[in-house]
Amino acid sequence: MIRQIKVGMIGLGSVSRAHLYAIGELPQAKLTAVCDTDPGAMDVIKDTDVKRYTDYRQLLADPDVELVHILTPHFLHAQMAIDALDAAKHVILEKPMASELGDARRLIEAADKAGTTLSVIFQNRYNASTCELKRIIDSGSCGKLIGARAVICWSRPPKYYTDSPWRGSWKTEGGGALINQSIHTLDLLSYLGGPIAKVKGHISTDLLAGTIEVEDNAHAVFEYSCGAKGVIFASTNYVTDAPILLEMVFENTTYQLCADKLFRIVDGVPELVLRDDGGKTVDGKSYWGTSHKVEIDKIYRAVLGGKQFEIDARSAYPALELVKGIYESSLTGEWYKLTTP
Ligand SMILES: NC(=O)c1ccc[n+]([C@@H]2O[C@H](COP(=O)([O-])OP(=O)(O)OC[C@H]3O[C@@H](n4cnc5c(N)ncnc54)[C@H](O)[C@@H]3O)[C@@H](O)[C@H]2O)c1
Repeated sequence: MIRQIKVGMIGLGSVSRAHLYAIGELPQAKLTAVCDTDPGAMDVIKDTDVKRYTDYRQLLADPDVELVHILTPHFLHAQMAIDALDAAKHVILEKPMASELGDARRLIEAADKAGTTLSVIFQNRYNASTCELKRIIDSGSCGKLIGARAVICWSRPPKYYTDSPWRGSWKTEGGGALINQSIHTLDLLSYLGGPIAKVKGHISTDLLAGTIEVEDNAHAVFEYSCGAKGVIFASTNYVTDAPILLEMVFENTTYQLCADKLFRIVDGVPELVLRDDGGKTVDGKSYWGTSHKVEIDKIYRAVLGGKQFEIDARSAYPALELVKGIYESSLTGEWYKLTTP
């Protein structure tokens, strides 16, 4: 018989649908407890055997929970994850790993010392198109990386912020278009292209000035440790959630990831290499992609196999540092040099 991990969930807001769907589909897990400070949020759980808490510390004290999914506002991530590791639980933490770099480094230290595992959600690493591009790059056939560009243009109207008031504030969200919507693509820049050495950029609050404190527009230039150069443009002021473009230019060829497709550019024209076969999206949030279940399945397998998962705290850090580096550079007008903790 398959061993089932007893899982708990803290935070039952919008992204919990993707996690609950994965838990329901995967045979290696059984939901035993949930926690939300808003009791009404727990109404999505129909199974009366699932325990309900309004204080996450009570859930962490429950011996019927071995692994906890943390899906709360950004400023709570690091401390909740540290408390969960201290309580000897395995942790699956939604992005970003923390809202501040100091908290992210504390979390890395805690994870290094823990006897359990900490895994961070960056589900787009597991899109079929991303996996294929990674395979091609690792094969060495592309030659040296010359440059990369990331263009993320989505729409986040005022209602998005009023629905969850922790969004739009520096203290509770830790940033805006970069730390929330664009961090997945910023993660892919270093996952696919290697370490980034420095970044210089600007942020501004334009369309939603007066509604939110954090940026709704950002642009930056950056340089990889290998010398390749890149640009980033991120906006949540667009009219729709446009397909995200990530282009990587190599000596021998150029590839573009565009939404769920991978293209190779031949004589300036995109040729389709691969299109994701389109697993189930959750409740119409197609911009989350379909890979939450894929990543959560891999994490459960790692936990059951007694192994650390590949997206651990250290692996999740560079994307957060790139975001925070752009914020700092925007204030100072100087380049921000990235570090590896
Ligand atoms: N990977 C993805 O594609 C993706 C997509 C959406 C959201 N997210 C991330 O998921 C996280 C949650 O986002 P969301 O959109 O679901 O937010 P949300 O505002 O819809 O939900 C957050 C939930 O946390 C609860 N909460 C707040 N404080 C709490 C506490 N102290 N203890 C227990 N529960 C508490 C709230 O009551 C709410 O139900 C964020 O980190 C966000 O960036 C990731």
